[in-house]
Amino acid sequence: MTETQLSSNLMTRRRALALGAGGLSAAAITPFAASQAAAPLTRALTIQGARYPVRGPVTDGLFSLSPDAPPPVLRLRRGVEHVFDVTNATADYTTVHWHGLRVPNAMDGVPYLTQVPIAAGETFRYRFASPDAGTFWYHPHCMTMEQMAKGLTGLLVVEEDRDPGFDADLPLVLKDFRLNDDGTWQDLWTRRGAARGGTTGAISATNWDLAPVMEAPAGGLARLRLAATDISRIYRIYLPDARGVVVALDGHPLPAPAPLPTKPETALALSPGQRADIVVVMPPGEGQMQEVLTRAPGTPRTLARLAARGANRGRRTAEIAPLPANPVPMPDLSRARLEEFVFGWSPDGTAPNNGWCGTLGYTFWSINRTPWPGDAAPGVGPLATWKLGDHVVLRLRNESPNDHPIHLHGLLFRPLRSNKRPVRPHPTDTALLLREETLDVALIADNPGDWAFHCHIIEHQKTGLAGFIRVES
Ligand code: C2O
Ligand code: CU
Repeated sequence: MTETQLSSNLMTRRRALALGAGGLSAAAITPFAASQAAAPLTRALTIQGARYPVRGPVTDGLFSLSPDAPPPVLRLRRGVEHVFDVTNATADYTTVHWHGLRVPNAMDGVPYLTQVPIAAGETFRYRFASPDAGTFWYHPHCMTMEQMAKGLTGLLVVEEDRDPGFDADLPLVLKDFRLNDDGTWQDLWTRRGAARGGTTGAISATNWDLAPVMEAPAGGLARLRLAATDISRIYRIYLPDARGVVVALDGHPLPAPAPLPTKPETALALSPGQRADIVVVMPPGEGQMQEVLTRAPGTPRTLARLAARGANRGRRTAEIAPLPANPVPMPDLSRARLEEFVFGWSPDGTAPNNGWCGTLGYTFWSINRTPWPGDAAPGVGPLATWKLGDHVVLRLRNESPNDHPIHLHGLLFRPLRSNKRPVRPHPTDTALLLREETLDVALIADNPGDWAFHCHIIEHQKTGLAGFIRVES
């Protein structure tokens, strides 16, 4: 596509977006119409530079929604329309993606695919209702390496219709930082990391702090909302000697609570993009601590320390009931079509990413042997096209010796089978595809639009392991 074609394509999109700004057409939200007719709740968010003592000394050049604190938890009500007016106060382009939420395509925050990126000084209005309650997160989808690596990842909580009755609700936004002891930045990415498992950080922070102490009532039930928001690190979560259960994975309640990982050998893998809701019975005595760890070569890293406070509430694991299920339909395999996707290296001689919305300067990866030429790839067609309502089995084949957390926007899928391990048909938006694994997953294409489909190790995404799927209405 030429420059002129490109800009006229963008103009068309810009006009379409402007026309749509007065409200979503009924068709756009049909599959997930708001369950309650409440007035939209409006909130202004400003993406801006920030300073904060992540490692002790103050670090400059972070990104957040305020000048001196990590991105806040955004709390939403299920089925209620919310409006976020996002202003870009940075010098580069940006967008916001609501990871895991089933929103109308135009609200999905993917540059050029669903919107024109938000330029410096501009404001974009996001407007959507979530059909699902649970733990989700938000992050930019443009200049991603810089803005995410420098802190712009936050938790989205969609509240259950009825309070599930825990004694504490604690957000744990997990993210590495590539910081030196003196608080200065290391290189955010490396050629070596991009070509292998991704570049991990020098420190593993939680809510921008190192091993923060988080308080909850002694003997009470504390709901931990863990979100793996690092650009590369796969967390291996366990809570030594803890009592409690896992109640939800990737935002969606488990039909029956699952055992809590308490040992490094049984650690819960949370790869970039994934979430876990864990309910812990707090220790009974004032001041007693429960650690949350991630397995790492050598010594584990402490992600948080939960401190028991006050009189013992004496609650028990047996009191923890399953959370109410979200309205996720079950695909009918007897009428599903099969669609294959191969994740691997880039074909030789591929030109580097064209640099729209940020480039790393090289290309290593591909889907179906086609490397995505950038965050913005106008003129590049979909990897697959389905009709609204189609039932599909996606065969995800990893030809590479690295693990890839594969993320699909706008639709939820369920793992069916793997050649390497048992899997459960639990709805998700991000599945960790192991090295050399073939994983079949199924979905119903029930949300129309162009949906980004990519690896959530951002160095892989930005060097080719990305594309999109079209659902035609
Ligand atoms: Cu969490 Cu396309 O991203
Ligand atoms: Cu990957």
